[in-house]
Amino acid sequence: MTAPNLDRAVRDRYTAASQEFEPGLCCPVDYDPQFLRAIPQEVLERDYGCGDPVSHVRPGERVLDLGSGAGKVCFIAAQIVGATGSVIGVDVNDDMLALARSARAPVAAALGYGNVEFVKSRIEDLALDLEFLDRHLARHPVGSSTALDDLAELTDRMRRDSPLIPDASIDVVISNCVLNLVTTERKRDMFAELARVLRPGGRAVISDIVADVDVPQAMRADPHLWSGCYSGAMREDEFFAGFLNAGLTGLRVLKREDRPWETVGEVTFRSVTIEAHKPAAPPPLDGAITATYLGPFARARIDTGLELPRGLPVRLGGTDLAAVLTGAYRDYVQLTDASGLGLPAPVACGPSGCC
Ligand SMILES: C[S@@+](CC[C@H](N)C(=O)[O-])C[C@H]1O[C@@H](n2cnc3c(N)ncnc32)[C@H](O)[C@@H]1O
Repeated sequence: MTAPNLDRAVRDRYTAASQEFEPGLCCPVDYDPQFLRAIPQEVLERDYGCGDPVSHVRPGERVLDLGSGAGKVCFIAAQIVGATGSVIGVDVNDDMLALARSARAPVAAALGYGNVEFVKSRIEDLALDLEFLDRHLARHPVGSSTALDDLAELTDRMRRDSPLIPDASIDVVISNCVLNLVTTERKRDMFAELARVLRPGGRAVISDIVADVDVPQAMRADPHLWSGCYSGAMREDEFFAGFLNAGLTGLRVLKREDRPWETVGEVTFRSVTIEAHKPAAPPPLDGAITATYLGPFARARIDTGLELPRGLPVRLGGTDLAAVLTGAYRDYVQLTDASGLGLPAPVACGPSGCC
């Protein structure tokens, strides 16, 4: 089964699921009911998530939701971030986007402010504005190989000169049960895009389905299992590695469901919600800050590879300093400046004052 066929299977499945609720598409999520009152019923019903990343966003943040579907998670985020924050939902499916957009005005009327927008893009290519491209192609259909070359040149230019989601523009990237749907060949691009759009010190909070062993090739080639959020699930440790390889750090499992979602053949699928941080821009303090690991383990190793023995101050520099300053490790280390004074951790905060 080729990648385009899997993409088509995903598109067809979610077009149908936007029109009528499909109960087979993953797991009902118990969101805080106070945030559901402002959201229209047809959006509430099209809930295809597998976790709750949105309860981890904070007031004032600029949020990007990857694979926003009918928009439920975005409309909850809109209420948590409040009028000073904002939310962008990204989806590739026209019908899901239309449903989500139809709810913007009623939600804004109920809240007294509108801070949500929905855009069309692939989460593995967040620089490319697919609605702009659709309009262009309607006026200039590709009718020859030369036109195909011109199109490739245009899309390269769009990504470079007017990226839909610019570099370092987002405080927190969230996603609910979507990363698994991206084809195996493009998963690395997806993690890279997620890291690109985060500001230094920003973070990702992602709920997704993971597998306990490699999903066998026969299952991977099954479009129904793929579009149903099974076959594209990564092995749990490889899922974590995807974030780390893209340069994120301080990865933490916020929730790991006790009960597997389902076992298919030899593979057990489970929902996890994880948090990962983009390192802060290192301040010019190389070596002037020490970290003392507080336990409970005898020693800790952070994602940069640095070892911190319990109770022994370690001077920080470069990428180690940048990683520790994200706040990912704040509950586990005490930071001290050159004069020996304790620093209020974390010291490198985002525009909203927290990280
Ligand atoms: C399982 S649903 C989850 C929807 C939503 N997050 C929720 O919690 O209800 C997956 C959504 O991701 C979208 N999607 C799948 N692959 C995508 C991709 N590569 N880029 C953007 N959106 C994608 C689908 O169109 C669909 O709306």
